[in-house]
Amino acid sequence: MKKKLMAILTVMALCLSLAACGNNSTPASGQETAARDTAQSTEATGSTENDNSSQAQENSTQVQEEEKNKVAKDGADMQTEDKSIATRIPMEGGTKINMYFGDTLITGVLNDSETAKALIEKLPMTQHMSRYSHDFCGVTEELPYNEDDVHYGWLNGDIDYALNAPYFTILFEDEDVSEQYGYQVNIGVITCPIADIAALQGSYDVRIELAAEETESKENVMEESSKDKVVSDSKSVAVYFSRVGNTEFPEGVDAISSASLQPDGGNIKGNAQLIAEWIADEAGCEIFEIVSEEAYPADYDQTVNLARNEQSGGVRPSLISSLEEPEQYDTIYLAFPNWWADLPMPVYSFFDEYDFSGKTIVVFITHEGSRFSHTIDTIRELEPEAEIVEGLAVRGGSVKDEEQDIRKWVQENR
Ligand SMILES: Cc1cc2nc3c(=O)[nH]c(=O)nc-3n(C[C@H](O)[C@H](O)[C@H](O)COP(=O)(O)O)c2cc1C
Repeated sequence: MKKKLMAILTVMALCLSLAACGNNSTPASGQETAARDTAQSTEATGSTENDNSSQAQENSTQVQEEEKNKVAKDGADMQTEDKSIATRIPMEGGTKINMYFGDTLITGVLNDSETAKALIEKLPMTQHMSRYSHDFCGVTEELPYNEDDVHYGWLNGDIDYALNAPYFTILFEDEDVSEQYGYQVNIGVITCPIADIAALQGSYDVRIELAAEETESKENVMEESSKDKVVSDSKSVAVYFSRVGNTEFPEGVDAISSASLQPDGGNIKGNAQLIAEWIADEAGCEIFEIVSEEAYPADYDQTVNLARNEQSGGVRPSLISSLEEPEQYDTIYLAFPNWWADLPMPVYSFFDEYDFSGKTIVVFITHEGSRFSHTIDTIRELEPEAEIVEGLAVRGGSVKDEEQDIRKWVQENR
């Protein structure tokens, strides 16, 4: 038995030393970049020059197979196949972007990939990102991608879209060992010193927008004119739906103990309601509340269950409030809570009632972790002829801490 064990250990040690040998032959990072570039150009011409390392790779296949299913300590998938695929898509020019981590500006440039183009369409947008060992990263909305662009690894400074979530990520450390991490599409690079981003800690709601000269040079007249609609002299209205205005609370409800209810002077206010009030104040516009004919139960859990049933049944609750002369508005700021990763059904009823073709709808959502979910896409489907602008996703429990940011956003974007 002992002999058998020794024999197995010897074979494993041999395999491991072959794998380590393969790693030792990997060039240092500068050379590695060149090697990746070469790999990319040879791939384009159909050459098989890279095969000279295939013997070592074959020998370590067994070990690689075992490693394939490992998960890194930050939860990312670790891959060991296809190490030679280039990580950075070459680019000429590109689209310059600004990313604001609080007061710190991280500049970047996006390439011409299908994924980057789709992201550019969404700008300006706010992306929640947190610092990890080798990147700043956050779950993002799904973007299209070309299978041929999916690769392993990165070069420090890459901006990538990682398919396994999906994530928007800025990678600034660990380029040398990055080939273990798969399912990435390179969409650009940062253009400021890497030290600027590496110095940041914690989490941010990162505002990503086209750099000023990009906005100015944008040829798309449609887009320019729709941006013009969010200007101060256009007529706007701040529309909101909140649980508070749609619930009959019994006397003496303990509003303070509920994260979704905000005591405001003697009143209880909803999170989306507060946002709409701040928007109306900044934009100098009217305010309108979506009110369902039938009130939701005062009991939170009952409301949660009822909302789910309404959603699965496609129920469109009748509304008792109506927007006077909706055609007078160019911009509709809309604030509502995320309910079951979707719009509350009375907000669907609101969209059923009005046609906002040719208008701009700026969306603000309150949530407890799900952020926008797919609500932006849903509103685009409900109002296909309107320009839908992603505003801010605000955590309901801390809405009052966000007041200044919300006001600033409206000032800067109206
Ligand atoms: C019926 C219901 C469903 C909810 N579903 C979600 C959800 O899927 N994801 C999430 O992050 N928060 C969810 N929440 C939390 C609310 O989005 C959050 O409390 C919000 O700030 C409430 O805003 P309001 O005060 O304007 O109603 C849900 C709340 C309710 C009442």
